[in-house]
Amino acid sequence: MTDLPIYPLTTEHKMLRDAARDFAQKEISPIAAEFDESGEFPHATIKKMGALGFMGIEVPEEYGGAGMDCLSYVLALEEICKVDAAHGVIMSVNNSLYCHGIMQFGTEEQRKKFITPIATGEAIGAYSLTEPQSGSDAGTMKSRATRDGDFYVLNGRKSWVTSGPVADYFVVFMMTDPDKKQKGVSAFLVDGKTKGIVRGKKEPKLGIRASATSEIIFEDCRIPAENRLGAEGEGFKIAMTVLDAGRIGIATQALGIAEAAYEAARQYAGQREAFGQPIGAFQGTGFKIADMKTRIEASRLLIYNAAIAKEKSKEAGGRYSIEASMAKLFASETAMFVTHQSVQIHGGMGYSKELPVERYFRDAKITEIYEGTSEIQRLVISRIELGLK
Ligand code: CAA
Repeated sequence: MTDLPIYPLTTEHKMLRDAARDFAQKEISPIAAEFDESGEFPHATIKKMGALGFMGIEVPEEYGGAGMDCLSYVLALEEICKVDAAHGVIMSVNNSLYCHGIMQFGTEEQRKKFITPIATGEAIGAYSLTEPQSGSDAGTMKSRATRDGDFYVLNGRKSWVTSGPVADYFVVFMMTDPDKKQKGVSAFLVDGKTKGIVRGKKEPKLGIRASATSEIIFEDCRIPAENRLGAEGEGFKIAMTVLDAGRIGIATQALGIAEAAYEAARQYAGQREAFGQPIGAFQGTGFKIADMKTRIEASRLLIYNAAIAKEKSKEAGGRYSIEASMAKLFASETAMFVTHQSVQIHGGMGYSKELPVERYFRDAKITEIYEGTSEIQRLVISRIELGLK
């Protein structure tokens, strides 16, 4: 039920959603379990998604994107995530954490050089904010960018970088003036081939295993000063602004996972019999189905609302932090709830790798952690509501 009366979808929205659904069913579904098992990065399908315009949905056509709105992005991402959350996070990072920030804060030259290869799917982008000692408290990063004539020299260690092992380009946040704390952070665009970039070992993960995650170490990495994104000291605000966009993507990833787990449970509850009737006819199961469905549709409303708020902010300016954080908080906790219930409804079959239900359960957990934990979303929402920041 994606055509809710309060958010009527246009023909373009429906065409894109159907194209994404078709691609996910035909190209990703047959390989999802195998790539989850091997943990191999799905280069071939990601390239095809780029060719279809899925890697830069909101990027204007002049920079190689599809030139569509944020609701289009959400609709397409939802379809990909229903089938595989690992493909979904690669798509989400390229679209929102990478392209969105450069579109909003980059110069014309930076947009052409750094967005076009990602939006067309020829290259992969990554976002490097977190460090070993600074995750939720992102403003306490230690890595340093030191100006040297027409260059900056980057030194430091970034962790949990989605697509880190394979990314061609990075948006990187480093301290240019540590005395100023958050106001001393600057953002940089870095070509992954630059000397001094060392890719750490690939993290072995519980879920989204086909998405590659690693540390990125910068050792006297010299980049042209023209690669600074925004002004010196503007980096923390850029990082936070970009995360608002990113959180809509992760909320959508959670929605897709929940929908897949729900549909499997709904079908199973109607077919599997116990004590002489389908298990769905017992209220113990039927009421689970009711709660799962209700929370999924509530997540969808919060996500579409955040997408529309983001779209409005493109014209009118202003933040949509609260809409994005509420969508991510509710959708990610819904994904955990729904996948947990789906495993339970399936019983032993839910625990078996013969069905994708256990994969949905493993994939759901990260949505409560990355791009801001549920605790950070609650902090953002409560601070805004209480007028504390
Ligand atoms: N948009 C614009 N500006 C913002 C903002 C936003 N969303 N959030 C904060 N700011 C601004 C504030 O207005 C403030 O500016 P002024 O000083 O001029 O008023 C400045 O930034 C500092 O803000 P705070 O005082 O609120 O900063 P804080 O230190 O208290 O931290 C926080 C705020 C919300 C906790 C923030 O640190 C945060 O979001 N932490 C979580 C980080 C995170 O999500 N990390 C995930 C990394 S990416 C990832 O997961 C990996 C991947 O590859 C997918």
